[in-house]
Amino acid sequence: MTAIKPHGGTLVNRVAAGEEREHLLKQAAGYPAIAVSQWTISDMDLIGVGAFSPLTGFLTEEDYHAVVNTMRLANGTLWSIPITLSVSEQEAKALTVGQPAALVGADGVTYGVIDVASIYRVDQKHEAVQVFKTDDLEHPGVVKLYERSPIYVGGQITVLNRPVPEKFIEYYFDPVQTRQLFAEKGWKSVVGFQTRNPVHRAHEYIQKTAMEIVDALFLNPLVGETKSDDVPANVRMKSYVALLENYYPKDRVFLGVFPAAMRYAGPREAIFHAIVRKNYGCTHFIVGRDHAGVGDYYGTYEAQDLLRSIPAEDLGITPLYFEHSFFCTSCGNMATTKTCPHDKSAHLTLSGTKVRAMLRDGVCPPPEFSRPEVAKILIEGMSAVSN
Ligand code: ADX
Repeated sequence: MTAIKPHGGTLVNRVAAGEEREHLLKQAAGYPAIAVSQWTISDMDLIGVGAFSPLTGFLTEEDYHAVVNTMRLANGTLWSIPITLSVSEQEAKALTVGQPAALVGADGVTYGVIDVASIYRVDQKHEAVQVFKTDDLEHPGVVKLYERSPIYVGGQITVLNRPVPEKFIEYYFDPVQTRQLFAEKGWKSVVGFQTRNPVHRAHEYIQKTAMEIVDALFLNPLVGETKSDDVPANVRMKSYVALLENYYPKDRVFLGVFPAAMRYAGPREAIFHAIVRKNYGCTHFIVGRDHAGVGDYYGTYEAQDLLRSIPAEDLGITPLYFEHSFFCTSCGNMATTKTCPHDKSAHLTLSGTKVRAMLRDGVCPPPEFSRPEVAKILIEGMSAVSN
């Protein structure tokens, strides 16, 4: 095992197996049912396998208010994103505090059970402003929040069925597996990299800069729900595989997915992303410009500033901060303002919108922006989506 401790000290395991699972499944058939979305099933699974340690279930009212208002659980442990279970008015009526309920997907599968510890109504506007720093309905995280019922149910869960990935199943690893794997490889320091995008040269530059000072890179793309104009996970996965194949040393990089939903909560989500990667066994975590941001809601380095304000012992993983990076035509290499003396006219910068338009038109962005192997896969992926 790597030396790094899971958040809160213990790696949570709330996945039932064997006879216990059979028994609970039988019992659950007689419990009141709560319908759960793909997003909630993903949260359940990540709680179950300990990626969200120390959470053992969905936030109770006390923990919810503590997280929303102070970024900590009621016991003081750092936790920045509320992980909650929303239920309809009708579902809530059938629940009793102290009694279990079944968590059932739209496919009729009972994904787990919850020991209902609290049922509470929330102020979604307050949650939006605290977590996303806005209640603007243009913000994708705020939209998702407002789509849900404001009645939440908290309590410990037990996972009885795990969601089965449709594709790239070989890149799914639980924290217990990644920890074991890092230990087997003898990696003492591993830097985690979160992404919801294809890996372009700027991403590659900061990853490789980090790789100069640690034993290995854990490329951990988020593949859960993202907003509709983000590149689909299946296309991204192909591009990551091609990139690693051609440009990374095989014995110092590990690719495994993070099957969580993207919140777009910028600074707060950066803390959450760092904590989760610690649970997967990383010792370091990359935070670049506008981490987990969207539109102009967060300042370029706001996530870094928030992380810097957290005492190191509360975070327990070392953030590695990077400035906005770009290709400088005068330097002839990737750089940031920390390493490049030239002005903006020498810097190659392309907006996400511009790059997407190029890819849609079948045009490869310059190799200084994106590796041709990656661009090719993205162009193919874009045309498959639009056809
Ligand atoms: S995120 O929403 O998952 O953060 P993205 O996949 O674009 O989005 O970014 C992954 C990581 O790379 C984040 O830490 C982000 O801050 C960083 N990053 C992205 N682009 C750049 C860039 N040009 N310069 C520096 N850091 C960057």
